[in-house]
Amino acid sequence: MGMLDGRVVIVTGGGRGLGRAHCLELARNGATVVVNDLGVGIRGEAEENAQSPAEEVVAEIVAMGGTAMADGTSVTDFAGMGALVQRVVETYGDLHAVVNNAGFLRDRMMVAMTEDEFDAVIEVHLKGTFALTKHACLYWRDQVKSGKKVSGRVVSTTSGAGLFGNVGQANYGSAKAGIATMMIIASLEMERYGVTANAISPIAATRMLATVGRTADESGGWDKLDPANCSPVVAWLCSEESGWMTGQVLRVDGNTVSRVETWTVQQSFRSKSGEAVTIEEVGLGLRKMLGTAARGLGG
Ligand SMILES: NC(=O)c1ccc[n+]([C@@H]2O[C@H](COP(=O)([O-])OP(=O)(O)OC[C@H]3O[C@@H](n4cnc5c(N)ncnc54)[C@H](O)[C@@H]3O)[C@@H](O)[C@H]2O)c1
Repeated sequence: MGMLDGRVVIVTGGGRGLGRAHCLELARNGATVVVNDLGVGIRGEAEENAQSPAEEVVAEIVAMGGTAMADGTSVTDFAGMGALVQRVVETYGDLHAVVNNAGFLRDRMMVAMTEDEFDAVIEVHLKGTFALTKHACLYWRDQVKSGKKVSGRVVSTTSGAGLFGNVGQANYGSAKAGIATMMIIASLEMERYGVTANAISPIAATRMLATVGRTADESGGWDKLDPANCSPVVAWLCSEESGWMTGQVLRVDGNTVSRVETWTVQQSFRSKSGEAVTIEEVGLGLRKMLGTAARGLGG
């Protein structure tokens, strides 16, 4: 018996890298996997080979005795994501989890970043995550309204750039921060319907990480950057067993899983008058709170 027996899961960007590893782990644990992938290049450009890598992952799953189907819809196609949810339900009778993973990079310093580079990255990550999440949640809400019991799971992919910031990734980091917050909002809105929403922040030697010069790290006798290291966390989050946990961000780095907290209030100061702070009080109050911890231009 696998932990995901009988569960139907859609994984976007499931043809390569982390998405492929998630699909294989889900299938190994008994899930029926819908492998979505547009088959684009690292910057989202169309590739010569029109054959989607999703077909290859489906073949791998079928070869190991699992059930899977490929889908080539872009996650940026809002109506297309709705149609995908409908198709999956028609084909397999239900949908239990979605893994939002598809995306690409168009890194550049802000002063050089074009409007298109900003929009395309926001669209594929942030809007793409919203598109599938919204349609899956709508399906689950309607199921509950018609008297059915639901254990829906949304697992989305944020990143260190979104949680901590990273030079050259104003588009990507903003999208990834938005995704982490979107999962908190989805967790609040969907709890009453039996749906959880969580995010993972992976680190893996895929073609995406190769763009910043990082490849497999086998210094300890095993590959700390193998994309498959993250997949058991994703598979568990898709299972029925994870129903007690929602609205969390988990960073998965090699053999370590960490819980990352969202923005929290650290310190405060108040005006002397009891009414609004004055312009003089702002600088003074912030100096007292931040002291040498402040990042700035000196002075
Ligand atoms: N690799 C890392 O260390 C790392 C770190 C943090 C976050 N991430 C995130 O993990 C996810 C997977 O990244 P990866 O490293 O495996 O990259 P990858 O390039 O190997 O895989 C991404 C896949 O998404 C597909 N894709 C792109 N646009 C699509 C679209 N519009 N519709 C459907 N599919 C589309 C691509 O064809 C590709 O197969 C991404 O969201 C990425 O931002 C990766």
